[in-house]
Formats: sequence, C-alpha cells, structure tokens
Amino acid sequence: KPMNVCVLVGSLRKASFNRTLANALISLAPSSLKLEIVEIGQLPLYNEDLDIDPPADWTAFRQRVKGADAVLFVTPEYNRSVPAALKNALDVGSRPYGSSVWDRKPGAIVSGSPGAIGAFGANHHLRQSLVFLNVPAMQQPEAYVGRLDKLFDEHGNIASEGTGKFLQGFMQAFASWIEAVRSRE
Ligand code: FNR
Repeated sequence: KPMNVCVLVGSLRKASFNRTLANALISLAPSSLKLEIVEIGQLPLYNEDLDIDPPADWTAFRQRVKGADAVLFVTPEYNRSVPAALKNALDVGSRPYGSSVWDRKPGAIVSGSPGAIGAFGANHHLRQSLVFLNVPAMQQPEAYVGRLDKLFDEHGNIASEGTGKFLQGFMQAFASWIEAVRSRE
C-alpha cells in the first residue's frame, strides 16, 4: 500500500515556481509514495481564542495532515525566513496543545528561489520549528533549488537533466526515510 504524503507549498500565488516544483516532485516520486498538495492559503491566522470553536478549515487541515504518513514542504523564502502562510499552517497544526498533528510525522524540505542560494534561510528556519514539533526531517540529501525561475520548460517539466536526476534521488531517499522512521515505531 503506497504511503500517503501531504505536500505543503509555502507560496500562495497561482503561478508559483515552488508549486510547479512541487508538481514536478510529485511526478518524479517512486510509486511507493502517493503525494497530494494540501492547501494552506484558506487557513485563518492562528488565534488561540478561535480554538474554543475551531474554524472548519482548521479542522479539515488538521484531520488531513493527521491521516497522512509523511509531509513534504516545498517553500520559497520570504525575507530570509519561512513565508507567513506556511508558518501559520505549522502553528494551526500544532494546536490545541497536546494534539499536534506534526508529532513524529516524517518530513522533508525542498526550498526554491529564483535567487542563487535556493532559499537556504527558509529551509533552515523551517527546520528549527520542525525540531520542536518533533517532525523527524530528512537531513540528507538537502535540496536548495536556486535559479528556480529558469528550471522548467513550458509544460512545467524540469528542463535540466542533472537537477531532475538529483530531485528524483531526493524523492527516493525520502521514501526510504519514511520507511525507516515508521519502522522504529
Ligand atoms: C521574496 N523573495 C525572496 N527570495 C529569496 O531568495 N530570499 C528572500 O529572502 C526573499 N524575500 C522575499 C520576500 C517577499 C515578501 C517576496 C514576495 C518575495 C523572492 C521570491 O524568491 C520570489 O518571489 C519567488 O518567485 C517566490 O516563490 P514562488 O511564489 O514563485 O513559489
């Protein structure tokens, strides 16, 4: 039975390069993984007052992530950090206290930017939260995708053979990582 993986994209814009990248990663993944983008743009900003009677979008998101075997983050960098929409999704999923949906969920991060350093800052700020949230995040290989605006052909496929191979290897490593984390439970 394939493993069910939520893909969270840190950009909300329609023509997002990171969303294109997420879709490319989905097609490069081994058949042992069933990946699906889970939307985060509709989630109201986390406010503890609302958790007395949580918004339906929070509940749906929490249930969706809770039911998944793993989570893949594909994110740009905003001002050297994690975009607010993605941080909000982490916060929403982490509450109410004691029922976080992230706990022990295997994860991996791919960060991407048109810039040269591949959203390194976002990638590592995200890791900081994942340490606290107890998401075992794959450490190697790392994926910082620079020049992301130049990566795709007109169909959204990865135009560089080298990068395509690298990302395919990344997804295979992620599949092995999920198996390894799951088998120690
Ligand atoms: C950016 N961008 C950006 N890029 C980067 O490499 N480091 C950064 O710190 C920032 N900061 C930043 C802040 C804000 C508010 C915006 C809107 C943009 C540029 C960013 O990488 C570029 O817009 C990407 O195209 C965003 O990813 P998507 O939307 O194409 O997936």
